[in-house]
Amino acid sequence: MTIQQIEQATPLNHVAIIMDGNGRWAEGRGLPRLAGHHAGTGNIKRIVREAIKLGIPYLTLYAFSTENWNRPTWEVRGLMRIMAEYLDRELRELHVEGVHLRLLGDLEGVDDHLAQKIRDAIALTSSNTAITLAVAFNYGGRADILRAVREIVAEGLNPAEITDEMITRHLYTAGMPDPDLIVRTSGEQRLSNFLIWQAAYSEYFMTPLLWPDFGPDQFREAITSFAQRDRRFGARPAEQEA
Ligand code: IPE
Ligand code: IPE
Ligand code: MG
Repeated sequence: MTIQQIEQATPLNHVAIIMDGNGRWAEGRGLPRLAGHHAGTGNIKRIVREAIKLGIPYLTLYAFSTENWNRPTWEVRGLMRIMAEYLDRELRELHVEGVHLRLLGDLEGVDDHLAQKIRDAIALTSSNTAITLAVAFNYGGRADILRAVREIVAEGLNPAEITDEMITRHLYTAGMPDPDLIVRTSGEQRLSNFLIWQAAYSEYFMTPLLWPDFGPDQFREAITSFAQRDRRFGARPAEQEA
């Protein structure tokens, strides 16, 4: 399928990726797990570039879940360090390429130094328009919904006034379209608390490839697969009516 055909097919506004399998990638090479996380961050650039080339307006990457704090301390610390080093190394280039960074998640509990780097990165790139890159970091779908509910309750509304749209507006993804396509690498077939509200009608593409091995060609393959899906959103075309 050509890019033109891809674009003409089912509209694709938002791709979200569960970047999984870094640990297994490293273990398979006899390397420490952190080497896998390092290789995983190295893969981000080529996928972001491909997404820009394909004209995808929103890309979300699941980088660290609220449950990932339950990993051994050395791994959590290593992941935080790799995140900070990633920003030091790549932020300038992301900015030059027109990437608008957004955070999905909470900086509460994140080391001050890293939290400040993330805030600075968001501020630096806030006027960029080539693509919105939302990084789900310290993100959990349940925490996302819980926070939205708390904010709505704090506004003192009548229960009947609470709408689907209002909840959507209070989520970390406020203003973003729901993900059309959710990609997960490493063969696992689960959401792992990723965008559980927003994924109501997402299409899925699960691949056995480990995240560091998932390149632009495989990304295109996921999009080609998406373009062939028949999305019905629970409805039926009018001509099928009795
Ligand atoms: C994904 O790789 C990155 C994070 C969850 C932070 P994993 O570390 O989960 O890799 P596997 O699943 O153990 O191979
Ligand atoms: C999901 O992967 C979180 C990220 C990719 C950041 P996990 O490796 O944490 O998920 P589980 O534990 O296999 O469900
Ligand atoms: Mg994993």
